[in-house]
Amino acid sequence: MHSPDDSRTSITLADENATLALAQRLTARLKPGMVIYLHGDLGAGKTTLVRGVLNALGYAGRVKSPTYTLVEPYQAVGLDLRHFDLYRLHDEEEWEAAGFRDEFDGRNVFFIEWPEKARGLIPQADVEIAFEILEQGRNAEIHANTEMGRQCLEQL
Ligand SMILES: Nc1ncnc2c1ncn2[C@@H]1O[C@H](COP(=O)(O)OP(=O)(O)OP(=O)(O)O)[C@@H](O)[C@H]1O
Ligand SMILES: [Mg+2]
Repeated sequence: MHSPDDSRTSITLADENATLALAQRLTARLKPGMVIYLHGDLGAGKTTLVRGVLNALGYAGRVKSPTYTLVEPYQAVGLDLRHFDLYRLHDEEEWEAAGFRDEFDGRNVFFIEWPEKARGLIPQADVEIAFEILEQGRNAEIHANTEMGRQCLEQL
């Protein structure tokens, strides 16, 4: 993976296994407190990536999309991971009432689907991955916003 700007990379993911392989490479580089935004249309592969990360961490259970609960915590996997899907987040009031603010304590690793629904409420992303649905497979644009993010993407 090479690009003129070290902090931005584009990868073609031919099939689901390629998405899972990307997730596996990413897993080795996760650090506590890291925030990763996952962009892309419905069905683009955001949850698939999170499933790949959890599998790589040794989590054997089912990874369900937190469509209605908005967040699914995973603890027994070496890292404290929070998987958010904010597609159905209504407003700031719902966010505060659910106590989500307290989740961002710098220790958990966050994967956030539909972060645009909580603009201004969630911390800045260290890494952003934008999935695009192609006729066959997907394209992933990966971008780092912070030093932690840049280190994570080095030689991904
Ligand atoms: N690289 C790929 N090429 C083709 N299909 C893929 C690829 N990666 C994932 N998929 C498939 O695309 C679908 C993506 O579903 P997934 O639940 O991951 O999407 P999502 O982005 O989380 O959608 P939502 O916004 O609805 O939560 C799955 O059926 C998965 O098998
Ligand atoms: Mg999803």
